[in-house]
Amino acid sequence: MSSALLKVLVLHGPNLNLLGKREPDIYGQQTLRDIESLLKAEAAGLGVEILSQQSNHEGVLIDQIQGAFDVFDGLLINPAAYTHTSVAIRDAIAAVAIPTVEVHLSNIHRREAFRHHSYIAPVAIGQISGFGVESYRWGLQALVTHLRSR
Ligand code: DQA
Repeated sequence: MSSALLKVLVLHGPNLNLLGKREPDIYGQQTLRDIESLLKAEAAGLGVEILSQQSNHEGVLIDQIQGAFDVFDGLLINPAAYTHTSVAIRDAIAAVAIPTVEVHLSNIHRREAFRHHSYIAPVAIGQISGFGVESYRWGLQALVTHLRSR
């Protein structure tokens, strides 16, 4: 990548468009728009460029990951329910080989057993889970620190 300004793609998976209304006891009161503003401010502080996208469709998320090849330096992703089901999203991340951090608002490891397994974790640098919107903020910080240390 020739540009000095790091570019990070932020992807939000299914049902995250409902944040704020959706099971607020688990996912909090903040909306996706709130998370996007928080990330924009964090990105500005870190001196990186971000683009955030949300989709409820697996194929759309895969197209966005494929399209990130040679365009974005890093990927911050909350794959939501696809975390636990999607070999295809895992394969897309492995294919583009873009450094990826997986984030979750809730702690997936202390919830139902079906949420304990992540198909994404083995192709990610790491996972931050359970800190609400701070998972995103710290995920972005961790990703940028990783990209700058290469
Ligand atoms: C989630 C956790 C997933 O298990 C769930 O399906 C989601 C959100 C989280 O951010 O806590 O939709 O990824």
